[in-house]
Amino acid sequence: MSSKTDLLTLGIETSCDETSVAVIRGEYEVLINSVYSQVDLHAKYGGVVPEVASRNHVVKLPYLVQEAMQSLKLRLSEISLVAATYGPGLVGPLLVGLTHGKGLAYGLGIPFIGVNHLEGHVFAHRLTQPEVEPPFMALVVSGGHTSLIDVPQYGTYQLVGMTVDDAAGEALDKIGKMMGIGYPAGAEIDRLATLGNPDTVRFPRPMIGSSSFDFSFSGLKTSVVYHLKKNPRERPEDIAASVLASVVEILTKKSIEAARRFHRKHLIVTGGVAANSHLREALTGAGKERGVQVSFPTRSLCTDNAAMIAAVGAFRHQQLGQSHPLSLKPDPSLSLGALAIEG
Ligand code: KG4
Ligand code: ZN
Repeated sequence: MSSKTDLLTLGIETSCDETSVAVIRGEYEVLINSVYSQVDLHAKYGGVVPEVASRNHVVKLPYLVQEAMQSLKLRLSEISLVAATYGPGLVGPLLVGLTHGKGLAYGLGIPFIGVNHLEGHVFAHRLTQPEVEPPFMALVVSGGHTSLIDVPQYGTYQLVGMTVDDAAGEALDKIGKMMGIGYPAGAEIDRLATLGNPDTVRFPRPMIGSSSFDFSFSGLKTSVVYHLKKNPRERPEDIAASVLASVVEILTKKSIEAARRFHRKHLIVTGGVAANSHLREALTGAGKERGVQVSFPTRSLCTDNAAMIAAVGAFRHQQLGQSHPLSLKPDPSLSLGALAIEG
């Protein structure tokens, strides 16, 4: 096995509509992390079309691998490990990245490791702030997930709460669609909200008073539909600010409470919605008041990328001595509790 610092891991991420390839050295050093977003291809449908996504991963992925090698002046034979996402996500897109990764590992005669995308989001934070070690509470909040996960140590995860319907990012994207904002809408709602008044409409805060750490965002979405029908002239900036006020309050209250209930002094917040400036500010402020230190990955590592996938692979291979057989299949509904793996 290579020494701890010179292991070169090729990471592949294709679980949704981003084709991404990364190479990292050791467990932390990102040499390249290229992300090709298919967003323009899906925008006209107002959401990701799985078949279109799969086909475009097939076209783009080999090209991104080749381009990464060329720009690093590396040969594929110098790669020591291949890591690819095997779930959760869309089955077709997952299959493309997983099959390509396994094929490369087989051809090169090197180990392969399948990575849980959610663990990847946790490791996006590790890449940015390696000094923040578990135990901590993690909020993974994206277009596909809104989960609170207790992390006593890397590789051990306990699901504390999750959305019972829409993910926070999914709700923002659907609300954005109703407002006529392009897909995905999260970043634009973030920008508009900065120019609006959050007190314009008091949208509901579903499940905010419940004792569980589960979330629900579909009622908020319905409430925005009715409001927009009745008030078509409301300023988009004010709607965006009012919607985000609700989403941010729910996420902030539950996450800080979960950290405190589990006696965690640190909360990490990751996934696409963690790029949101209002959420970052509210969580940091609430954390200061309640004695919980809150931190985030850099914005570019919040959204889907392959560096975080390579980071999990390198950790599991180096620290836990793990790899997967090439018979590994995609698992679209893989949870973070299902990390059984061969030694
Ligand atoms: O992590 P990600 O790239 O993909 C999933 O695993 O789902 O997250 C994408 C989600 C989308 O719903 C997008 O609207 C949202 O993250 N998003 C944001 C922001 N940037 C991306 N939501 C709120 N504010 C942002 N600045
Ligand atoms: Zn993601």
